[in-house]
Amino acid sequence: MKLEITPSGQACGASVRGVDLSKPLSKDAAAAIRAAWLQHQVLAFPDQKLTDDQLEAFTLAFGPFGHDPFIAPIPGHPHIIAVKRKADETSPIFAESWHSDWSFQARPPQGTCLYGITIPPTGGDTLFVNQYLALEKMPAELRQRIVGKRAIHSAKNAYAPTGFYGTGDKGRSMDIRPSEDAQATQTHPIIDKHPETGRECLFGTAGYIIGIEGMEQQEGWDLVSEIYRWQTRPEFQYRHKWQKDMLLMWDNRCTLHMATGGYAGHDRLLHRTTIGAA
Ligand code: SIN
Repeated sequence: MKLEITPSGQACGASVRGVDLSKPLSKDAAAAIRAAWLQHQVLAFPDQKLTDDQLEAFTLAFGPFGHDPFIAPIPGHPHIIAVKRKADETSPIFAESWHSDWSFQARPPQGTCLYGITIPPTGGDTLFVNQYLALEKMPAELRQRIVGKRAIHSAKNAYAPTGFYGTGDKGRSMDIRPSEDAQATQTHPIIDKHPETGRECLFGTAGYIIGIEGMEQQEGWDLVSEIYRWQTRPEFQYRHKWQKDMLLMWDNRCTLHMATGGYAGHDRLLHRTTIGAA
């Protein structure tokens, strides 16, 4: 098997052909995909007809399942969540803000797989930012202010009962379950070393990051906002355009991502699994 890898030409991302993901992956194939994933951070596999069982098998070739809090799984598949939106839905788009999935966990996931089932004719792209590049190009003065600092991560602004997806969030077709558990906090280095590539990158962003350890709230928030403005700049971005039957996998340790809208009047459905920490 020889993977055909076509880089996106943007700040990260590549499309991969030459492998049938509905079949069990050989050790060599999984290793080749993993190497490409570490290099390009986001891999798109077009034209893959996958069942939910096959999506799960693919995920397990790269690590254990991660734990997905606050969103109920689909029936019969405790490790798959449906990212869905009805044509007539008017609630805010799910995940339309930069984040690294579940960065508030003690051991955040390695990555995420997302499989396109119903894809609208326009809109609904997913944006990514390369956090190796954002750190590499960061002005020395800003970098020097964050070296050695730890960010405070929490899900509370999103998933607490008072959060964005809390009890006031009505009319959403996704099965989100807000909880007081979202109030918990966890710290992680702002500049992290990727455990596999050994390269330094920025980890996480404002939203799940709510402050900086050892700094006054306002001072910490000002710094988080300054980092946010830098790490999400257009030159670090990749815009992913979806097709039906496309599988996407991204590395949460060195990217941020966000959903986008622009498809009112059309359904959108994708199935998502999480590759847990190794
Ligand atoms: C997500 O953050 O998992 C959702 C991305 C998307 O809907 O494009």
